[in-house]
Amino acid sequence: MKPLKFLMGAAIALAAIQLVPYGRDHKNPPVSGEPKWDSPRTSELFGRACKNCHSNETVWPWYSSVAPASWLTQFDVSLGRSKFNVSEWGRTTGENEGDKAAGEVKEGQMPPFIYLPAHPEAKLTAEEKVELAKGLVATFGEDKPGGAKGAVKGKDGDNDKD
Ligand code: HEC
Repeated sequence: MKPLKFLMGAAIALAAIQLVPYGRDHKNPPVSGEPKWDSPRTSELFGRACKNCHSNETVWPWYSSVAPASWLTQFDVSLGRSKFNVSEWGRTTGENEGDKAAGEVKEGQMPPFIYLPAHPEAKLTAEEKVELAKGLVATFGEDKPGGAKGAVKGKDGDNDKD
């Protein structure tokens, strides 16, 4: 294929995928409940590294309106909110996995690595990670795999179903 033809083809394809409606919604539903943070510092670190995908106060960047980035953004936010949403704390439907939050930070699973290049503020230092993980345990409790799970249910403000 000639380079010019290829470029035109790519431009047309890029224009065409903009017509897919998925990812353009950018709804921030109302805040119906918030956890009682153990300290303003935990809330601040969470705000920097987690809030865009785990709250209803998402800041949607310009590229979140341009496919295919918009699809990825929408997918991450919808799935992230469905698992753990600090703006719907105490909700009775679905899960709200606060007790897993510290573990995700310690294991380096959250925030997702793919998020970091466009969000340098979410990149936490080793000390900040320790600080955030501690604060998350103090705020949400800690899920101990195979251990005391269930024993603390109902006491830690966690309402997950598993
Ligand atoms: C770019 C969006 C994004 C950011 C930023 C983000 N998450 Fe997530 N998070 C997700 C998605 C998507 C899922 C569901 C898929 C998965 O578990 O990997 C998820 C899942 C989770 C879960 C549930 C895990 C489970 O096993 O059910 C917890 C807890 C969590 N995130 C905590 C955090 C914390 C704490 C931060 C900040 C340090 C953070 N996330 C930052 C997108 C995000």
